[in-house]
Amino acid sequence: MAEYKLLLEHAHEPSFRTLEGYRATGGYKALEKALGMERQTIVDSIKTAGLRGRGGAGAPAALKWGGMPKEKKRPHYLICNADEGEPGTFKDKQLLEQCPFELVEGMTIAAWAVQGDAGYVYIRGEYMDGAKALREAIDEAYRAGLLGKNILGSGMDFDLYIHCGAGSYECGEETALMSSLMGERGMPRLKFPHAPFPVISGVWDKPTLIHNVESYCTVPYIVDRGAEWWSSLGASTKNSRGTKIFSVSGHVNKPGNYEIEFGTPLRELLELAGGVKGGALKACIPGGSSVPIITAESVEKAILGYEEMSEVKSMVGSGGCMFLNEHTDIVKFAWRTAVFYMNESCGKCTPCREGTRWMVQILERIIGGGGRPGDVELLRQVASQIDGRSFCPLGDAAAWPIMGMIRIFPEEFDYYIEQGRSMLDRVPASVA
Ligand SMILES: Cc1cc2nc3c(=O)[nH]c(=O)nc-3n(C[C@H](O)[C@H](O)[C@H](O)COP(=O)(O)O)c2cc1C
Ligand code: SF4
Repeated sequence: MAEYKLLLEHAHEPSFRTLEGYRATGGYKALEKALGMERQTIVDSIKTAGLRGRGGAGAPAALKWGGMPKEKKRPHYLICNADEGEPGTFKDKQLLEQCPFELVEGMTIAAWAVQGDAGYVYIRGEYMDGAKALREAIDEAYRAGLLGKNILGSGMDFDLYIHCGAGSYECGEETALMSSLMGERGMPRLKFPHAPFPVISGVWDKPTLIHNVESYCTVPYIVDRGAEWWSSLGASTKNSRGTKIFSVSGHVNKPGNYEIEFGTPLRELLELAGGVKGGALKACIPGGSSVPIITAESVEKAILGYEEMSEVKSMVGSGGCMFLNEHTDIVKFAWRTAVFYMNESCGKCTPCREGTRWMVQILERIIGGGGRPGDVELLRQVASQIDGRSFCPLGDAAAWPIMGMIRIFPEEFDYYIEQGRSMLDRVPASVA
């Protein structure tokens, strides 16, 4: 299998960022088609296609689309989550910068299907180039009657706004994102069953459809080419359809975004990225820093699909795929990962706020050469007290990588504690 470029087919053509260039590739055919379709037919085709959200959890998109109230009593909103804070993930950046019209068209079709009045694209603050490209696309779409009042003479009104974040990983969590968008602190809210789903009560307590950039960008292709065609991509997997963009980084010769069909072996993704650099492959974190690490042997077996990745005890996640060569110090990698989650913990709940700090302190002691017998067990206990006991999934995301690294590379942690240095170092860390 090679790359299967659908969303990224024209990404490298500068004209694709203009309305004229986008239209020349077939852009906006899908919106015209959608405006002539019943709303429910569009929702049904998203279901038939089997689209699963590309933001990380892989939830069926049709559940959200179908969950939006059919009877319109209040304004309906759409949100695009373009916060892309998951370490190792940079696919949305490319989509925003090079394929902005895919997002605008995808959101407009979704707005038609769920009776959306306005949409908000919440963009990671650092993505200034992406925000600029999207601003230009939105302005052009307004001028061409593809946004605003009476879109293409259909009677549909839809406005699209950009909101830039201020650099918080937690603001990518959908309820924290909505709080931030409303001008509140970027902290998560209670979720179902303790609170209604966003489709019932989301931003400003109104029905809200929230999706990742890649999810919305996929919509025009499903509508234009048909749900059956789209769902034929990835048909070798249990339940993962279409293409997926993986951001490949770490010790590879050609880091970058690679769009593949679900069902592609992970080994082939590594080959697309030019193979391992600087030594033999040691490990891989296939779906962003929150998902469990896997060994080189598991890389040989892994198939890229939501269910298939669980067979190697990991996940597709956000598609941030990091390969590590044999010279990687896993204990230091665990410490660096733990520092990220400690810094990004919003502080709302105790297990995450305190636990992430404790994990960093223990790991700092170990890599500093002062590890104590029992530290690995202590680390495991702290991680398990965070996992499943935190208010939002950031806590789990902080615990899983550390638990995974201890489980798969226990000897590296033990060596540090016994010898006061890394298995990979010649000089004791405390002397160096
Ligand atoms: C801590 C945290 C950070 C997240 N960051 C992002 C993000 O940057 N982008 C994103 O699309 N989803 C992110 N998510 C997932 C969102 O909460 C949400 O599930 C997603 O935007 C839904 O879109 P989808 O249905 O297209 O996957 C994050 C979740 C958590 C718990
Ligand atoms: S788990 Fe708790 S402290 Fe951590 S980010 Fe979520 S709400 Fe905030």
